[in-house]
Amino acid sequence: MKETYLITGVAGFIGFSLALKLLKKKKNIIGLDNLNNYYDIKLKKSRLKILLKFTNFKFLKTDLTNFKKLKNIFQKNKFSHVYHMAAQAGVRYSLKAPEQYIKSNINGFYNVLELSKLKKVKHLIYASSSSVYGANKNYPFSETSNCSHPIQLYAATKLSNEVMAHSYSSLFNLPTSGIRFFTVYGPWGRPDQALFIFTKNIIENKTINLFNYGNHTRDFTYIDDIVDGVIRIGKSIPKKNNQWDSKNPNPSFSKSPYQIYNISSNRRVKLTSYLKILEKNLGKKAKIKYLPLQKGDVPDVSSSINKIKSKLNYNPKVEVEIGIKEFVDWYKFYYKK
Ligand SMILES: NC(=O)c1ccc[n+]([C@@H]2O[C@H](COP(=O)([O-])OP(=O)(O)OC[C@H]3O[C@@H](n4cnc5c(N)ncnc54)[C@H](O)[C@@H]3O)[C@@H](O)[C@H]2O)c1
Repeated sequence: MKETYLITGVAGFIGFSLALKLLKKKKNIIGLDNLNNYYDIKLKKSRLKILLKFTNFKFLKTDLTNFKKLKNIFQKNKFSHVYHMAAQAGVRYSLKAPEQYIKSNINGFYNVLELSKLKKVKHLIYASSSSVYGANKNYPFSETSNCSHPIQLYAATKLSNEVMAHSYSSLFNLPTSGIRFFTVYGPWGRPDQALFIFTKNIIENKTINLFNYGNHTRDFTYIDDIVDGVIRIGKSIPKKNNQWDSKNPNPSFSKSPYQIYNISSNRRVKLTSYLKILEKNLGKKAKIKYLPLQKGDVPDVSSSINKIKSKLNYNPKVEVEIGIKEFVDWYKFYYKK
C-alpha cells in the first residue's frame, strides 16, 4: 500500500512549499491547518488552492490543540511520516501573545507526539528554529552548541519541542528529527517577515523600520533549499545509536532514535546588504528609519551545516541575489503590482 504523509501547517509558508514538492513527487499527502489569522488568511487560502488541484492531496481544517479530532485523523489514516510544520511562528509576536505559543507549540506539539507514538509513525519530522541558540555567541552555531539560554518564549517553545521529542524517542522508540531552520525566505513567504514587509513598504512608498540600525546578520535560506533539506531528513529515519557517549553527551543525536539538524544557506548576509539587493530588484530606494535592537531579537546568526552536508549530502544552491529576485517576481505577480 502506498504510504501517506501528514503535513501539519500545510497552509503556511514552509508546509505549503514542502507539500507542493512532495505532491509533484506523487506522494499521498493529508494536510492539516487551523487557518488562523496571525497573517492574511487569503494568502493561506491561495496556497491551499494550488495544493487542492492535486488528486493525491486532501485538506483537513483542524486545530492541533483539538486532541479528539486529531486522534480521529490519525485513526482513519495510517501515516508513515509526519511532517510537523504547524506552529505559532514569529519571534516578536511572542512578546505580545505568549499564550498562543504555549497552546500551539507546546500543547499542540504534545498531541502530535502522543498520536505519533500511539499510531507507530515511522518518522516524526518537526520544525525547530535557529532561535534556540539564544544568547549563545559562539559562532557558527552547530547542533553540538549549547542551547540552554533562549531569549524569548518562541525559542523556548521550540527548544522544549526538541527535549519533548527526545523523551518520546527514548521511552517509546519513536524516531524523531528536529530541524532548526535559519531565516527562510522566497515566493509565498510570510507577511510578518522582513523581506515581505520591506517589499510592500518600498512599493507603497512607506518608511521601513530597520532595527539594530540594520546591523543584523542572518543566514537567509531560500525556500527550495529548505524543502530539499527537509525531504532528505524525512528519508533518513533515525536509528538507535550505541556510539553515543553518555559520558560526553553530544546534543545532536542520542542512543535513542533522535536527530537534530540545522538547515541553512550557510552564507551570512548583513540585513543592509539584503535590503540593497531588494532595492536593486525593485528599482527603487527604501525610506529607512534606523532603530535600536528590539527586545528578544538575536543580533547575529551564523550556522554550521556540516552535519546535514556530510550525513545527507545536502548542498544549498540559491544565492540571495537570485532568491530575492524570485521573491520580487512572485510578489508582483501575486499582488498584481
Ligand atoms: N519561516 C522561517 O523563517 C522559520 C524559521 C525557523 C523556524 N520556522 C518554523 O517552521 C515552521 C513553519 O513556519 P512558516 O514560516 O511556514 O510559518 P507559517 O505561519 O506560514 O505556517 C504555520 C502554519 O501553521 C498553522 N498553525 C498554527 N497554529 C496551529 C494550530 N494550533 N493548529 C493547526 N494549525 C496551526 C498556521 O495557520 C500556519 O498556516 C514553524 O514551526 C516555524 O516556527 C520557520
